[in-house]
Amino acid sequence: MKGHVWRPLFVVIGLVAAILVFRMFYVPADFGVHDQGYTFGFHRLGNEQEWKQFPEKYKGTEYCNECHDDKVESISKSGHGIIPCEDCHGAAFNHPEDPEKLTVDRSRALCLRCHSELYMPSSQRNDLPGINPKTHNEGMECSECHNPHNPSLEEM
Ligand code: HEC
Ligand code: HEC
Ligand code: HEC
Ligand code: HEC
Repeated sequence: MKGHVWRPLFVVIGLVAAILVFRMFYVPADFGVHDQGYTFGFHRLGNEQEWKQFPEKYKGTEYCNECHDDKVESISKSGHGIIPCEDCHGAAFNHPEDPEKLTVDRSRALCLRCHSELYMPSSQRNDLPGINPKTHNEGMECSECHNPHNPSLEEM
């Protein structure tokens, strides 16, 4: 064969060799197919441990029940039972170690997020009982009259 055929072939062989050498240094030694089944086949083994140590942000209502069972009990009997505690009080992280206390937000804005009256007939948002914030006891905190953990109007 003529030289002009060999030359591009050497270039290709050179490129492949360069990629293999680069891969040897760049890809971590523990990267490969590990026993996590087909879906998560390719990953770095050390990464599994890293994710196990990743600090959890949200704990869930079950966790609050260990210490605030009175709140969990009252809320679970009310229409607010479907709202996770952390939706109103923020992410728990390592509470009560850090932070010692969670946010207690008494602003009208917290409640109006869900209870501002909107006309959206095709959305489930429309099913939430709504008020007009401009006429419904303006200037007062909602929790002065409604218990956020048991907002049912029968008990008022
Ligand atoms: C291991 C026990 C424990 C767990 C679990 C726990 N808390 Fe607490 N929480 C405390 C303690 C102790 C305080 C500080 C003392 C106090 O004011 O009651 C506190 C304070 C709070 C406060 C502030 C009260 C105030 O008067 O300022 C809120 C809000 C709160 N917790 C919500 C939650 C929520 C929501 C969860 C679940 C995600 C939760 N807590 C899980 C023990 C706990
Ligand atoms: C709809 C929003 C909302 C949800 C959901 C909610 N809270 Fe609250 N929470 C509030 C508000 C607002 C206050 C302040 C009430 C007031 O004016 O004293 C409060 C107060 C508290 C306090 C401190 C004051 C007190 O009454 O002792 C604790 C502790 C608390 N909540 C825990 C919880 C836990 C635990 C859950 C879940 C079971 C929960 N909350 C769910 C809005 C909420
Ligand atoms: C994440 C959305 C959400 C937030 C935030 C929220 N609520 Fe609610 N609220 C609901 C749901 C859902 C219901 C139950 C509706 C039902 O029973 O059909 C409800 C029910 C109520 C009711 C009862 C209405 C009735 O006719 O019985 C009142 C009053 C109320 N909420 C006040 C508040 C107040 C005060 C706050 C702020 C502390 C608040 N809500 C925050 C979703 C929310
Ligand atoms: C001065 C006391 C008071 C304050 C403050 C107050 N409410 Fe009310 N709320 C009432 C009373 C009383 C009713 C029942 C009669 C009515 O519908 O006006 C009611 C009714 C409601 C209802 C039910 C409406 C329906 O159609 O079923 C919702 C939702 C509600 N309030 C949310 C809120 C929110 C959110 C705030 C704060 C932005 C708030 N309220 C502030 C006294 C209060």
